[in-house]
Formats: sequence, C-alpha cells, structure tokens
Amino acid sequence: MPMFSDYDSADSEHTWVMAFDGYDPQDEGHREGLFAVGNGYFVTRAAAIEATADEIHYPGTYRAGLYNRLVSQVNGETVENESLVNLPNWLALTFRIDGGDWFSIDQVEILSYQQSLHLRSGVLRREIQFRDRDGRQTKLHEHRFVSMAQPHLAGLHLELIAENWSGELEIRSAIDGRVINNNVKRYEPYNKQHLEPIATGTLEPAGIWLNTRTSQSRVELGLAARTQVLVDGAAVESTRTIEQEKAQIGECIRVHVNRGAVIAIEKIAALYTSRDPAIACCIEASQEVVLTAPSFTDLLNASKHAWERLWMRCDLEFEPVEYLRIARLHIFHILQTFSPHTADLDAGLPARGWHGEGYRGHIFWDEVFVLPFLIYRFPAIAREILLYRYRRLNAARALAHQQGYRGAMYPWRSASTGGEETPRFQFNLLSGHWTPDHTQLQRHISAIVAHTVWEYYIITNDIMFLCDYGAELLIEVARFWVSFATYHPEFERYEILGVMGPDEYHTGYPNATTSGINNNSYTNLMAVWTLCRAQEVLDLLPASRRRELYHWLKLSQEEIDYWDTVSRKMRVVFDENGSLSQYEGFDRLQELDWQQFDHERINWVLEAKGDDVNRYQVAKQADLAMLFFLFSKAEIEALLQRLGYTFDLNQMQQTLAYHLQRTSHESSLSRFVYAGALSQLELEKSWQLFTQSLITDVSGASSDEVKSGIHLGAMAGTLYVLQHHYLGLKVNRGRIYLNPSFPTSINHLRVSLQLQSNDFQIEKIGDRLNVAAASTNQSSVSIIYHGEMVDLQPGISLSFALNNV
Ligand code: BGC
Repeated sequence: MPMFSDYDSADSEHTWVMAFDGYDPQDEGHREGLFAVGNGYFVTRAAAIEATADEIHYPGTYRAGLYNRLVSQVNGETVENESLVNLPNWLALTFRIDGGDWFSIDQVEILSYQQSLHLRSGVLRREIQFRDRDGRQTKLHEHRFVSMAQPHLAGLHLELIAENWSGELEIRSAIDGRVINNNVKRYEPYNKQHLEPIATGTLEPAGIWLNTRTSQSRVELGLAARTQVLVDGAAVESTRTIEQEKAQIGECIRVHVNRGAVIAIEKIAALYTSRDPAIACCIEASQEVVLTAPSFTDLLNASKHAWERLWMRCDLEFEPVEYLRIARLHIFHILQTFSPHTADLDAGLPARGWHGEGYRGHIFWDEVFVLPFLIYRFPAIAREILLYRYRRLNAARALAHQQGYRGAMYPWRSASTGGEETPRFQFNLLSGHWTPDHTQLQRHISAIVAHTVWEYYIITNDIMFLCDYGAELLIEVARFWVSFATYHPEFERYEILGVMGPDEYHTGYPNATTSGINNNSYTNLMAVWTLCRAQEVLDLLPASRRRELYHWLKLSQEEIDYWDTVSRKMRVVFDENGSLSQYEGFDRLQELDWQQFDHERINWVLEAKGDDVNRYQVAKQADLAMLFFLFSKAEIEALLQRLGYTFDLNQMQQTLAYHLQRTSHESSLSRFVYAGALSQLELEKSWQLFTQSLITDVSGASSDEVKSGIHLGAMAGTLYVLQHHYLGLKVNRGRIYLNPSFPTSINHLRVSLQLQSNDFQIEKIGDRLNVAAASTNQSSVSIIYHGEMVDLQPGISLSFALNNV
C-alpha cells in the first residue's frame, strides 16, 4: 500500500499538495501516472530522472493526439494498432561521484524520501537524502514542471548538497530517443517500436538536440535541451563532453565539489512536432526556443502564473476538506490533458489522459463525463473536443455505410482518423488465452457524441455552433439510429439488436453463434433521445440555415416524420417485476455466486475456468443507471411516456437497486454514475459511492491500472456528481435550474460558472444556497430553484433555504 501522506511544509497549503512519504518501488508506476505533469500539449510521467524503463520505472512523455500505427503478428493473425506514442525522454539526467556508480534510487541507502505534487503551481518535487555504498551522504532536491505558459517547454532543477564528501561530480544529461511503447503488460506480444531516429547534434554555446519521426504517421519530432551547472551559486570551471548516437544524445559535465557545496543543475527542454501550428520546422523551433528561453526560475514563474489564471477560472471549495484536495487533483489532471494549449491539436479526449499507454491513448465515450466541467469554464476548449468528432463525421458516415446503415456511426475506439480502433482480440492474463473483443458493438457511443453536442449548445447558447457543425452531426446520428433499428411486427415496435450496452461483460447471449445483445434499455432510450433532439435542432436553426441543411443533407419531411415515428415506437424491455431491464433476457440469466470473486475482472476469471460471464447477471459497470445519471426523473418519465410506457418512482428505485446489487464496478466509470443516479433517491448510499469513486486513482486499490494512465472519466465524473447531482445544476439556454440534493456530509461547496458574458458563484453554506451574480454581468438571468423562478439581477445575491425543500 502506498503511503499517502499529508504534506505540511510551510510554503504549501494542505489542500493543494499531494505527497508520498517514502520510496516504494512497488508503487512507483502508480505514482508516475498520478503525479505526471503536463500542459495539454504534452505530459511527462513522474518517473525518476535517472531511470530508464525497467520493471519499476517507466519514463514516458506523450504529446496530445500523437499516434502511430504498427503491424503485429498476434494470435496467428496480422493486426494493426494505432497507439499514442511514447516520445524521447527529455528527463534523462543522472550523476556520479569520483567515477563511482551512476546515481539510481534503487542502488542507494535512502535516509529520507518525499515526492510531492503541487497542484496550484503545477510543480513536481522530489526530496531525497541518501548514502551511497562508499558512505557518501547527499541531499537531492528536485523540481520539475511542464510549462503551462509556453506549451513547448519544460524544466528540471536539481539541487545536490554534498553533505560529507568532496570529489569530482560527473553529471550526464541526455535526450533519449531509444524509447519504445512498453507501459502495458498486456500489449507485450505487439510491436512497440514507433520512432525512427533521424539525427542528433549539439547547440552553441551549449545544448543538445534530437530529431526523430514516427514510423507510419510520419510526424517529425524536434527535441532540444540545455543544461547548466552552478556550484554554490556560481558558474565554475567544468568540462563538457558529448556522447552522441543516432537515437540519443547526452552531455557529460564534470565539476569539482567540496564538502558542503550546493550544486544546482538546471535543464530546460523543448519539444515540437511537425504537426504544430505557427512553426516552419520542428527541430529548428526546438533549438531556437531552448537557446533563447530564460532561466529555470523565470520559466517556472511564468508557468505558475499561467496555472494561477486557470485556477482563477475553475477552482472550487468543498468540505469535507480531505476531499477538496482530491477534487483539485481531478481538475488538475483534466487541465493537463486538455488545456487551451490542446485547442489547435485536433485531439480527442483520451480515457487515460496523456499519462500512459493504457488503451493505447484511445478516445472512447469518456468525454461525456468531462465536458460539462469544461463547458462552464472553458467553452472554447469544450468546443474543440466536439470538433474532434465533427472532423471525423465523414469517417463515421463511412463506418455506417460499410455496415449497411445510413447516417453516422461513431467508432467505439477512435484515434487519428476516426476509424474503428477496437482491437480484434484481448489477451486474458489469467488464462493466457486470446479472446475476441466485441466492444465495438457499443453503438451507444454515437448517442453520446450527439448528447455532448447538445449539452454544449444548451449551456452556451452557441447557435452558430449548431448551424456550422452540431445540427449536421445530430441529424446524421439520428439517421443512423433509424436505419439501425428494425421493426418487430408482432410488438409493432422498433428494436435495436446485436449491440453491447456500457456494461462490457455482456457481449452476447450464452452459447449464441452471433455476438451482441438485444434491446439494451440505455441504448434504445438514447436513440429515442437523439431522434427527439434531431427534430428539435431543425426548429432552432435560422430559416436560411435550415433550408441549406435540408439541401445539403437531402432531408425530406418524410424522413423527419419517420424519425418521429421511431422515436414513439421504440421497444423498451421491462422485467416481470416492473424494473427496466438492462437488456432483453438479462433477468433470465443465472445469479452469480459473488462469494467466489473479489469483484475484479470477473469475465477473465470465468473465462480462465472455461466458463462465460454472459451466463450471469453481473455487470462490469453502470449500464442503464447511465440514464438516471444523464437525465432527471422527469426527463426519463417523459421519454418513456412518449413511447407509451409508464414508469414511476418505485420502479426507478427498484431498477437501480436491482442492478446496483449485480454490478462489480470493475470499471472506474461505475460508482460515481450510481452516486449521481441515486442522488435524488438514496442520498447516503449515493455519498458512499461518491467517496469510493473519489479515491479511485489516489488509493492503492487501482495502483496497477494508474501505472498506464489516470482514469480521466472517473476523475471528472466525481466533479460531475458534485455539480449536476448534489448541487443539481442544469443550464438550459440562459436559464439556471437548481435542484440541490446534498448529502449531510457536504458542509460547504462553492463553484464559479461563466455563462456567455455573465459570471456566477453558487455556494452552499450550512443550510443555505447562495447564488451570486457578478456586478459586471450584462443581463439578468432566471434562476429556477426547485421549480420556482426568480430573476437574478447583476450584482445581486439570492439565498435559498435548503431545509425547506
Ligand atoms: C469501460 C468503458 C470506458 C473505457 C475507457 C472501459 O473499461 O468499460 O466504458 O469507456 O474503459 O475509459
């Protein structure tokens, strides 16, 4: 178990710093992912600077949206995978004394060790006191950042104190391009070499550079670094030698050190790619910027300043205070993955951040959990995430077409092109078997793409976005749903067959020869929802744009009438007891004997025993609970009423309780979904699930997983629950709806929001909810508090009693 400690250094506030006391090689991979630093352009794992990849350490740097395809032979077949590429290691820096061993944290006697992540400033620190095998005692203080001010720069500062020795100190600072993608054990059988070296060289007066390219996507990379050494604050006589190969370059700097001396080593590195805007040549850009960059301190100050600006926009206050720090960590990682620096990179929102190679850096549906946080604070960034999808609308059309459907069918896993990136097989580490991967049957992802477009619109009121992109996307997804649905004459209803819901355990019916399950309630209702929005969006467009779209998409009234028909006649399956069924036949599956499992990888365990998870009533994650997470009770009732079904509160409670009991929560996208879904029904249960979800990545429980990247969806999902469920916030075209439902444990919550040109602060203190409009607001806004409408003028604060509700 990792030591997860409080950090009480004088210069840091408790809720802004996360720290680990003591070095734990077993937990190192987890800490590397959790404490990675980045700026939305690139992210560098919190790996030890002196380490190369081995069983314990994994230095990794990833640039947002930079993928490469490789062909591999696995399971007797030729397969292709596109992966986020691990880039040359700019951290590489170590030292030795009097020709002894090069420093390695694993080879010295550690006297004290602390690693801390400073959320407010974006700085990672490591403080070590150690003794080498010759009894030399040294203190090492390391600071590292990836600049939030200048997205191509990063800095490293090392202070060494020669506590009881004098001697020749040799420092080796390198850019190591010999790296491969080797962060995920399960991908062992695949090809991992993504980089092809081009050249290395030196800079005048000092510095090194490395030029390389990805093998298939042909993206060139330019990295450059300069390293400076000061002894007791002054430049001293030193010798510099260069070690140069085609795929790595290093410089060795030798200085004499007297007992008690303080040696400061500062390394500034730059990274550019040939896909970056506003440059002519990436290698030249990296060389120039590294030579002209100011000192470490100045760069760091600029980066802190940029972080301050981001925090001004998106900080929150939250009590109990022990959770505030984690909530801030979640915001921190959202911003490191997607910041204003990501905006021009055509990157999607990756499930695991740019923090590791889990899921090969692919884009799934996780943006649905992250976008709402961004829309209220950085609408321009949120828009870019949607544009990633819009730019791949033709690819989604092609996918639909290939399979005989109309409209746009978004892939379950997407990377550069928007083609389907779901692998054909998965390797079960428990059984050693390759098993087919059917997850691309999660057609519900297209509805989520439509949903995020709609959310963006109703919160920002950005009608031009709808005109230019959003309406077309929504309509094409609606077209897909009607062509995908089949009519069942006996039921006189439409059905959606052969899919998978969000629960990835169920890939088909037991012993069936074809894959997929039928009438997943979540998928069917999301399809209905999309069809309704596609009709609504047409009414919202200005007449000229509507006419244009009819023409461009060859739309007819007949087609729209058909959407309406399908949206009123979709089949939804209920269990005998009146609960919504996860899918047709789920309730007839066998009950699982939970005693035999520890809730982890149940599908793998069963497969290893020659059994099949498809036979059991067990879900990997929230499935139909997603409906209750995304929509209010009233919205779900309205959807079902449209279809001619009645659904009351009892059925809702029963449905959630039934499925919660049968969910393993193996996916991190589960507990917080239930926490949100239960917020109006069972608050204390909701809070329990929320707090469990909050610590998904910080606790040791998911240590192995975080090694290959953070769980961005889960991190953002907890913020979603705070904002949308406990605070009960919904904004719809200029109106603010508040339906708070706070667990008793939340004493205080404050969030700030930006809606068009108006700023608001919403704060729960004790049993009051205060909503304040900034005096600079341009207009008044309607607040609908539990159904009661009040007008909020600029500069005014309203206070509502929470207990009276
Ligand atoms: C979950 C998916 C999720 C993916 C990436 C999987 O384990 O089942 O719902 O999108 O991880 O986060």
